[in-house]
Amino acid sequence: MRLVLVGPPGAGKGTQAEFIAANFGIPKISTGDIFRANVSGGTELGRMAKKYMDAGDLVPDEVTNAMVRDRLAEPDAADGFLLDGFPRNVAQAEVLNGMLDELGSPLSVVLDLEVDFEEVVKRLSGRRTCKKCGHVWHLEFDPPSTGGVCDKCGGELYQRDDDQPGTVRRRLEVYADQTAPLIDFYRNEDRLVAIDALGAVEDVTERAIAALTPFAD
Ligand code: AP5
Ligand code: ZN
Repeated sequence: MRLVLVGPPGAGKGTQAEFIAANFGIPKISTGDIFRANVSGGTELGRMAKKYMDAGDLVPDEVTNAMVRDRLAEPDAADGFLLDGFPRNVAQAEVLNGMLDELGSPLSVVLDLEVDFEEVVKRLSGRRTCKKCGHVWHLEFDPPSTGGVCDKCGGELYQRDDDQPGTVRRRLEVYADQTAPLIDFYRNEDRLVAIDALGAVEDVTERAIAALTPFAD
């Protein structure tokens, strides 16, 4: 299955991506995670991307597209993948279509996680991420049993720099202006499936898997 997840910041793309990718046996490719790994690794790409991420803006397309092209060429992506956070505007979607045309393997489906903006603000303000294993927690909705420590691996939890209120506002504007048009783009291509992403994490996972199963090879 070649799958794209779309939805506003905080919709639960990263949370659901873990379960969906495991269910269908495909690698999860998150451009946000790759950028953050480069930021913490102090690479040149990380230094460049951090300026845009901290402002809540998109990293320039040519940088992001090249990074995704390289990642999709890795052997584990040959039989399918889940893209989380890419494409993020219509230009990136067109580049992705071009890359997949070259490989003769078009996207199977695009899953849109629908949530209102009030809910995403709550989800982002309480989000905490594990420094060691990357697992995403929420102080209120999915709290770790000991504050500040990951239950899965004992790693330290941190709040993302771009989850500050001013940056969240800008990310939501960027979503509305640049990313939301992808919904119509993929609807016109007849690839879009939307689910309600409100409610318990397990219920959303169940809805996602039910919606995607008809597209599995
Ligand atoms: P990225 O990392 O992709 O951020 P995002 O799209 O803003 O999405 P988030 O990671 O904030 O949210 P999510 O939907 O994954 O939600 P999560 O599962 O964590 O991108 C960051 C930056 O990188 C961008 O701003 C940009 O600068 C750059 N970038 C990335 N890709 C790019 C691209 N293609 N082009 C250009 N630039 C790019 O959930 C949120 C919280 O809610 C968590 O605490 C979670 O525990 C909780 N939660 C999840 N589900 C539920 C539920 N059902 N009920 C209650 N709480 C829930
Ligand atoms: Zn952890």
